[in-house]
Amino acid sequence: MQKLKIKNITLENNLLLAPIAGYSDVGFRRLAKKYGAGLTCTEMISAKALIYNNQKTLDLLHTFDGEKPSCVQLFGSEPDVFEKVVKLKALEKFDIIDINMGCPAPKIYQNGDGSALLENIEKASAIVRACVRATNKPITVKFRSGVDENHIVAVEFAKAMEKAGASLLTIHARTRKQGYSGKADLAVAKAVKEAVKIPVVVSGDCVDRASYENILKETNADGVMIARGALGRPEIFSEILGKDVKVNKLDDILEHIEELRKYYPDKLINLMMRSHIAFYLKRCKVSSADRLSLIDDSLDGVIEKLKHILN
Ligand SMILES: Cc1cc2nc3c(=O)[nH]c(=O)nc-3n(C[C@H](O)[C@H](O)[C@H](O)COP(=O)(O)O)c2cc1C
Repeated sequence: MQKLKIKNITLENNLLLAPIAGYSDVGFRRLAKKYGAGLTCTEMISAKALIYNNQKTLDLLHTFDGEKPSCVQLFGSEPDVFEKVVKLKALEKFDIIDINMGCPAPKIYQNGDGSALLENIEKASAIVRACVRATNKPITVKFRSGVDENHIVAVEFAKAMEKAGASLLTIHARTRKQGYSGKADLAVAKAVKEAVKIPVVVSGDCVDRASYENILKETNADGVMIARGALGRPEIFSEILGKDVKVNKLDDILEHIEELRKYYPDKLINLMMRSHIAFYLKRCKVSSADRLSLIDDSLDGVIEKLKHILN
């Protein structure tokens, strides 16, 4: 397994857990790391909200013991805000800072953030330059192939980010218009890899060892990032790495909850775990009545039911 170097940081391997809003919480990242992910990253976090010390936003910054290296993903569109944010004490513990320039959600891009930056290369470059000025930590950028099929900007964009000082690029080779449907365009990812000297990670459609190998073969990328393929089955990292591990879903769910309990109240964890549990149980033989019964007011109640269903 190839290692991956990001500026002065060398990852154990080139398999990364993607930032996934609503899912890549500290508990899920702990499991991804346990199963071998070379790098874990927070979900996208508003740079501006961090400046204003918004408590809900600060609550997204928890890391688990042993999350090394650690990566935080920020979104926003104002270079001066980024310059201040990367110097905040709250971000001191993170080794790598990733900037989201691909989010297709209307409320994000209509605000000039996320994928809106694909249409504003000057501003995107200014953001990277501002971060690089403010810290020696590696600044990385995650972006999409373009806005739609008639506006594929990935290569031009990648070159500009490299010139601005980015240490690594992650390309999710779908357009904003595609959202999460259709296949990621590996030809675009390959063109990005060929256009820059810094490492390139490809995000999109890695669901097993065969797709991992195919992405590397088709693009010559330096690494592969996994998002949906890891939901409910963080053991995907072990499978791809060829590590022989015994998976116990109940133990994994309990470990996930145990980590979250260090930082959040049960009521919130119950909400956070609802969609995770649906994914964890996807490949388990569980009746719909049992699944429904898991919607419980108390986290302890959910845990007891899970023990009953999965034992
Ligand atoms: C529910 C969901 C939330 C996501 N949140 C983020 C995010 O916070 N930041 C980001 O850069 N990408 C985000 N993505 C995109 C993924 O990181 C990834 O690039 C995309 O899903 C393609 O990879 P996949 O085919 O492995 O899922 C999200 C995707 C999904 C499905």
